Amino acid sequence: TVSSMIDPFGRAIDYLRVSVTDRCDFRCVYCMAEDMTFLPKRDLLSLEELDRLCTVFIEKGVRRLRLTGGEPLVRKNIMHLVRELSRHLKSGALDELTLTTNGSQLERFAGELADCGVERINVSIDTLDPDKFRAITRWGHLDRVMRGIDAAAAAGLKIKLNTVALKGFNEAEIPEMLSWAHGRGMDMTVIETMPLGEIDGDRTDQYLPLSQLRADLEKRFTLTDIPYKTGGPARYVEVAETGGRLGFITPMTHNFCESCNRVRMTCTGTLFMCLGQEDAADLRGPLRASEGNDLLSAAIDEAIFRKPRGHDFVIDRRTKRPAVSRHMSVTGG
Ligand code: GTP
Ligand code: 5AD
Ligand code: SF4
Repeated sequence: TVSSMIDPFGRAIDYLRVSVTDRCDFRCVYCMAEDMTFLPKRDLLSLEELDRLCTVFIEKGVRRLRLTGGEPLVRKNIMHLVRELSRHLKSGALDELTLTTNGSQLERFAGELADCGVERINVSIDTLDPDKFRAITRWGHLDRVMRGIDAAAAAGLKIKLNTVALKGFNEAEIPEMLSWAHGRGMDMTVIETMPLGEIDGDRTDQYLPLSQLRADLEKRFTLTDIPYKTGGPARYVEVAETGGRLGFITPMTHNFCESCNRVRMTCTGTLFMCLGQEDAADLRGPLRASEGNDLLSAAIDEAIFRKPRGHDFVIDRRTKRPAVSRHMSVTGG
C-alpha cells in the first residue's frame, strides 16, 4: 500500500518516529546541557493516547514505527505500549516496529522486545573506553550497556551501533569500534553532529565532517558503496576486511532531505515535520477534542502539507547559537 500522506514535494510519508519521553538517564554532552528542563509531566500523553495516535498514522499509511526518546526504555510501563503496537505487526499493517536506545535498560527489556516482534534495534555508543564513556554521557556506565547488548544479541535482536563522530574525542577510535561491531555481527552508522539546542560546550569544536572520517578509514579499510537501505538516511558501504556494513549519516555535508520519508511526534503530541526546523503541529488538541479520529486525521493532513523541503541546520557564527533551539531528546533524532 502507498501512504495517503504525500507532502508538497511529492514525498510519501511512511515512517513515524515517536519520542515517548524527553527524559534520559544519560546526558550526552553533544545532546543535552547538564542541567535540563524537561517537559512537564502533566503535558505527557498517556500510553493509550500514544497508541491511538500511532494507530491513526498507521491507518494513513505509516509502515515503519520507531520509538525514541530521550531514552524510550525509561518511560514508565513502556512495554505495555510496545505490546499494544505489536498488534499492527501481526495484522500486517506495519512492516517494522523498532527502537533507538542508549542500551542502559536493555538487559531488562531485550527478551520482551523480541517477544513483541521487534527484530532490530539501534544502540548509541560513542566510545568503547569506560572512562571516556562516563565523560561523554556525564555519568553512564559502559558495562551496563555492554550487558544490554549481550542480552539483545541473546534474544535474537539485530543491532545497529550508532556513533556520533566527535572531533578529538572518538575519531581515532572509530576503526577499532568498527572492527568490534562487525566482529559481533552488528552494523554500524557514524553520524555528523547536528546543532540542535543549547549545550554547555561549543558545537563547532566537536563537529567532524564525515568525508574526512571516510578518507581516514580508507587508509585502513576497503570501503565499497552498496545500495543497502533501511528506510533511514544512512548511506552504506561494505567493509571488505570485516565483511560488515558501515553507514554514514551526513545531514551537514550531504543532506538527504530530498528522499525524506518521515515525521516525528513528541510525547506531548507535537508533530515535527522536520528534525531541523521549528515548525510543528499540535495533535494533542484534536486528539482530546473528540472520540472519533476525523479531527486528528485532518490535523495530520494539514501538517504534512506544511512539511518543509529540508532542514535549517546552521550555527550563527556570531552568537554561536543553533538555529533550532529544541534539543535532540525532544524529538529523538
Ligand atoms: P534506521 O536506518 O531505520 O536503522 O534508523 P535511523 O538510523 O534513521 O535512526 P536512528 O534513530 O538510529 O538515528 C540515527 C541518527 O540519524 C540520529 O542521529 C538521528 O538524529 C539521525 N536521523 C534520523 N533520521 C533523520 C532525518 O530525517 N534527518 C536528519 N537530519 N537526521 C536524521
Ligand atoms: N547530533 C547528532 N546526533 C545526535 N544524537 C543526539 N544528539 C545529537 C546531535 N546533536 C544521536 C544520539 C543517538 C541518536 C538518536 O542521536 O547519539 O545515537
Ligand atoms: Fe540520552 Fe541519547 Fe541524548 Fe545521550 S544522546 S543524552 S543517551 S537521549
